[in-house]
Amino acid sequence: MFMNFRRIHKCQCVQLLTTGLVLCMVMVCWEELDHHVVSHMRSYTYRYLVNRYDFLNSSFTVSSKHHHRNDGSGSVDGGLGNYPYLINHPSKCRGSHGDGKSWDDVLLLLFVKSSPENFERRQAIRDTWGNESFVWSELGESVRVVFALGTHPDVSQRSRVQTALLKEDQAYGDLIQQNFVDTFHNLTTKLILQFHWGHRYCPQARFLMSADDDIFVHMPNLVRYLQQLMSSPSGGKDLWVGHVHRGAPPVRRKGSKYHVPYNLYPWPSYPDYTAGAGYVVSGDVAAKIYHATLVLNSSMYIDDVFMGICAKAMGVSPQEHVYFSGEGKAPYHPCIYDHMITSHGHATDVRSLWQAAVYGSYRGHMGDLYCRAVRVMLLCLPYYHNTYSCMAAFS
Ligand SMILES: *[C@@H]1O[C@H](CO)[C@@H](O)[C@H](O)[C@H]1NC(C)=O
Ligand SMILES: *[C@@H]1O[C@H](CO)[C@@H](O)[C@H](O)[C@H]1NC(C)=O
Ligand SMILES: *[C@@H]1O[C@H](CO)[C@@H](O)[C@H](O)[C@H]1NC(C)=O
Ligand SMILES: *[C@@H]1O[C@H](CO)[C@@H](O)[C@H](O)[C@H]1NC(C)=O
Repeated sequence: MFMNFRRIHKCQCVQLLTTGLVLCMVMVCWEELDHHVVSHMRSYTYRYLVNRYDFLNSSFTVSSKHHHRNDGSGSVDGGLGNYPYLINHPSKCRGSHGDGKSWDDVLLLLFVKSSPENFERRQAIRDTWGNESFVWSELGESVRVVFALGTHPDVSQRSRVQTALLKEDQAYGDLIQQNFVDTFHNLTTKLILQFHWGHRYCPQARFLMSADDDIFVHMPNLVRYLQQLMSSPSGGKDLWVGHVHRGAPPVRRKGSKYHVPYNLYPWPSYPDYTAGAGYVVSGDVAAKIYHATLVLNSSMYIDDVFMGICAKAMGVSPQEHVYFSGEGKAPYHPCIYDHMITSHGHATDVRSLWQAAVYGSYRGHMGDLYCRAVRVMLLCLPYYHNTYSCMAAFS
């Protein structure tokens, strides 16, 4: 009896100690918890219950007097771009390619957000999914692929890298460079470059895409998808498609790359936006975004969020496509290649993936049922959680 009591007492002690320890941990980690749980709860609540972002119009509109493009940054193209062009190809969308007429009828203007030193990545893209001739000869569509750049951030290397860039551009004629420092915090400047260049030099393009230089684009699948949109009742208008973030909270943690201070964005939730890794807009939406960039304050340096702000102000909402990836890398499997549009994180294996995904001899060898089962295995089990959603297995 006495022994028993002692044992229970001991157990309770251990329990108490454990509880205490856990509480201490929670208190120590409270800030982390706050960021990950509370800010998301606040943000989702705002997004799904309130969902009014009217403040964006008034808070982000700048008076024409303080216009960010007219602040003496030395623009040489009539105030259309923030910074002067160092490398440009005004007739990139007009050039002729044998039988001229339908080569001018650009289906897709594709901007790859690159950095000056990423020569290898650009070369891999040119040799694979960014090959305009391939799309023209194999898929019968006219696309333009250009690389958007600023200048090298390291002053001591800038002139060497710039010389290399000029040489590269002489060979390929596909670099668009403005005179701003190419850094993470200047990505919104690069976004503005893309929409301004498109508006000025390629307004006839049916679609505009913005992509990172470490993504893989399954060009045949993308082109087929865009063709379907064109023949749908909407005619491919009013479109902004990608991997959509809904109710994302601003990151307030100081150390984070995505840290956004309250004075820049005081509200609990961003408007919906697509992951910057790769998204597509129709020509009419591209024109609206262009006009938004003329009147909105562009100090929000996270470019995909700024895009969301522009779109919201113009009444455009993003639309989810399950085969556009956000941060995720697609599983390597023929049953995925059949459907995928973009996949992120392919800095080094673009060539092998292009071979496998586009030239692979798998078609017809695997039944639909088999492929569905494989996709369920690959996408719905927890260990691949960071790629296409489980829903993609059933679409
Ligand atoms: C691009 O595609 C064309 C047509 O398929 C092909 O002839 C050419 O070799 C490709 N270019 C590169 C750099 O791979
Ligand atoms: C963006 O580019 C401009 C022009 O080169 C430069 O003055 C500014 O410091 C850059 N901003 C960041 C955050 O790198
Ligand atoms: C843009 O917003 C930032 C941060 O909120 C502010 O400091 C800046 O003065 C604004 N610029 C203009 C032109 O309104
Ligand atoms: C203000 O924002 C709404 C969407 O929230 C948009 O539909 C409307 O066109 C905007 N108005 C102006 C004047 O920008």
